[in-house]
Amino acid sequence: MSTSKSSSGRQAEAASPRQKKTRSGAVSGKNVRRFRGVAMPYASHACIRAVKRAGHEPSIHGTKLWKSSCLIIDYLKKNTPKRRQHVLDAGCGWGITGIWCAQKWGSEVVSMDADPAVFPYLDAVAALNGVSTTPWVQRFEKVRKKDLKQTDILFGGDICFWDELVKPVGTMIDRAIDAGVGTIVIGDPERPTFHKMAEKVIQKHGGELLNWRLTGSVKATGALLVIHND
Ligand SMILES: C[S@@+](CC[C@H](N)C(=O)[O-])C[C@H]1O[C@@H](n2cnc3c(N)ncnc32)[C@H](O)[C@@H]1O
Repeated sequence: MSTSKSSSGRQAEAASPRQKKTRSGAVSGKNVRRFRGVAMPYASHACIRAVKRAGHEPSIHGTKLWKSSCLIIDYLKKNTPKRRQHVLDAGCGWGITGIWCAQKWGSEVVSMDADPAVFPYLDAVAALNGVSTTPWVQRFEKVRKKDLKQTDILFGGDICFWDELVKPVGTMIDRAIDAGVGTIVIGDPERPTFHKMAEKVIQKHGGELLNWRLTGSVKATGALLVIHND
């Protein structure tokens, strides 16, 4: 896995007359909402429509920004881990949580997903926020302990949505703990498959299951599996 430095040097796109530029350079307007400082474009945003027009079609649900990512962002903002330089966003989709870490903390972010079609969307969202991350096409079950040696934080938003994902996500967490990853956070809208995975992980390694609620620009409820391994 490449952990080469992600830069925060990309320019945000020029704002259209209907959009306002914020101090961070990101835009706000009706096709984008802001959450904890990051710009989250809707499918109707020009930058997303351009990627879609180019023919990129995610096929394992990486088709939008899922709210579980916002649960994780909110948790990390309120519970900032000491070690946060190297971050892995597993099942990143459009990658907003890693983008938030790059923007807020200057973290070097690896954005990992089995579906290569998500990355053009992630790049568009990252550019809108003036940062970039390192893409990695990989499956949860193929992530090895040695891939995780440098990782300080591993998270994943809504990544355990099928029965077939319970074991792979659990195995990835086992390896992360073995590799010494400091903080692991998996956010979910409380699908039964997530609870099945979380129960097994907590039995094996400890950790906590937290109910989490968001109000404001993003409204969401869900659960977070959090493991502190420092
Ligand atoms: C529901 S989406 C969530 C995306 C993102 N985390 C978010 O919260 O917006 C699930 C993501 O997991 C990815 N995925 C599904 N199975 C995977 C696997 N076995 N290994 C890696 N990624 C996988 C999908 O391609 C998709 O992008």
